[in-house]
Amino acid sequence: MSRIERKEYSCEKCVSYDFCKHIEERFHNQIIADKGNWREIYDNGQRVGTPIRRCAQTIFKSYESIFFNKQVLEIGCGCLSELDKQFCQEHKVNYVGIDPGRLPGVFIDNEPVFLWRVQNKVMPRILKLFNVKKYRLNKYQYYIRDAFPSEELEGRNFDLIYGNSTIEHWHEKESSLELSVEAYKRAMDECYRLLKQGGILLMNCPIYVHGNILFMRGEMDAIEGIFENGNWRKVTFEYWRRNYSGLMPYCPQARKEYFNNEFGIDLENIWLLNIVAKK
Ligand SMILES: C[S@@+](CC[C@H](N)C(=O)[O-])C[C@H]1O[C@@H](n2cnc3c(N)ncnc32)[C@H](O)[C@@H]1O
Repeated sequence: MSRIERKEYSCEKCVSYDFCKHIEERFHNQIIADKGNWREIYDNGQRVGTPIRRCAQTIFKSYESIFFNKQVLEIGCGCLSELDKQFCQEHKVNYVGIDPGRLPGVFIDNEPVFLWRVQNKVMPRILKLFNVKKYRLNKYQYYIRDAFPSEELEGRNFDLIYGNSTIEHWHEKESSLELSVEAYKRAMDECYRLLKQGGILLMNCPIYVHGNILFMRGEMDAIEGIFENGNWRKVTFEYWRRNYSGLMPYCPQARKEYFNNEFGIDLENIWLLNIVAKK
């Protein structure tokens, strides 16, 4: 079994601490009034975003440089990935995005935002209607409409496999812990196979929010177990915001009640797991 290193990224020591603190102070009354539900908090018509969304943005910034000049596979890319054309161009990234559902529209460049949104809504339907499985968006970006693991990736390999809040959704209908672990092990084996020697898997996911029971219930031993098969050189589990020192816990009241009723878990704080695995 690959040895797992665990690292705590406490809020007080995070580069984004002052920013998060400022937001908390600014919206303090609203957060209390909305019973901790950050999704209801808007600033000038724009969602302020949840605390773990800010963690994901900080993680991306801190790992941005490793994307440079790489062949990248983004699993569960959706249609609004931060790995957009400009990013790929600037970082010389050769990009493949795979997602069974949402994918970006083909006429995306220089469109007004509302058309861009319409495209992203319409695109999956068009792809499905014409049974289009793959398409090239531009010189840098290539997309596959399929769930991972996928035969469409046969014969390819990558320097970097990235996923932002997707892994927890992969087997979300599977309710058995053992079968979930087996399914995730197969998926991780495939990630290992697709990576070049020296390649990196970089994946973040929320703990205690949604998706497969492993992630929903924070079954950390089982999640570590999915790395059992590959001969990974190093696997690091980064715990972001698990220690929220100096900030408020992220725990909407409705979610706390749901977790208590559904799983008998006394939920105190939602946090973000970032997995960095080196082949
Ligand atoms: C919460 S969204 C995140 C999208 C994107 N990464 C982002 O941050 O905007 C999760 C995405 O994972 C995709 N997904 C779910 N199961 C998947 C699978 N087995 N393979 C690839 N993508 C999957 C969903 O279709 C969805 O687009």
